[in-house]
Amino acid sequence: MIIAIDGPAASGKSTTAKKVAEKLSFTHLDTGAMYRAVTLFFLDNKTVLSDPDQIQYAVNLIRLKFLKDQILLMNDVDVSAEIRTGRVTEFVSEVSALQQVREKMVYLQREIAKFQDVVVEGRDIGTHVFPDAKFKFFIVADVEERARRRYDELKNKFGDINFNDVLLDLKGRDKKDASRKISPLKKAEDAIVIDTTSLTIDEQVDEIIDIINNKIHNRS
Ligand code: DC
Repeated sequence: MIIAIDGPAASGKSTTAKKVAEKLSFTHLDTGAMYRAVTLFFLDNKTVLSDPDQIQYAVNLIRLKFLKDQILLMNDVDVSAEIRTGRVTEFVSEVSALQQVREKMVYLQREIAKFQDVVVEGRDIGTHVFPDAKFKFFIVADVEERARRRYDELKNKFGDINFNDVLLDLKGRDKKDASRKISPLKKAEDAIVIDTTSLTIDEQVDEIIDIINNKIHNRS
């Protein structure tokens, strides 16, 4: 079974997807982490984003493997922490807009989901990667609230952070992710919207689990 959870950056999708997967004993697939890993590879190898041959060459060299606890190996190296750094975040929207990158990532995502039950989170999961997913959720939250959450998270990790920079970064990424030509961030027509602006993580998770249980047991 596939449960698709899409939504903008810092909407609470990742934590929600992780907890929903835990509760259902499904695998959690964070597709944003995959695009982040590709971005890291491109940065480290100075891949020129305007050169399709270089992009294809780089894409062919990348091997990704998820271990438990969201550990992501790229070519056998643990990149789980490095893909969350500012330099990757800054370029990930640009890299994830590239067709060759998306084709490879979508292929890998479909392979991973072939033989297991998964909660897949991203931007295009309900619209493009798994249009036939049994459940589709679209998580939204006010941009100011999302910036506050991201600010708290980054401040705990890196200390000196400016709230307005975080807000501007989120607005910029929202715009790029929603306006790109290929598979933009978009609610699937049949997705259920969950507004997390004033919900706690536990409330978001419970709401999703209730919807799933009600549908499976035909209670609504
Ligand atoms: O969820 P995240 O913020 O870690 O995602 C990082 C970037 O990857 C985000 O700016 C858009 C891109 N992304 C995408 O284009 N498609 C997905 N399915 C997941 C993420």
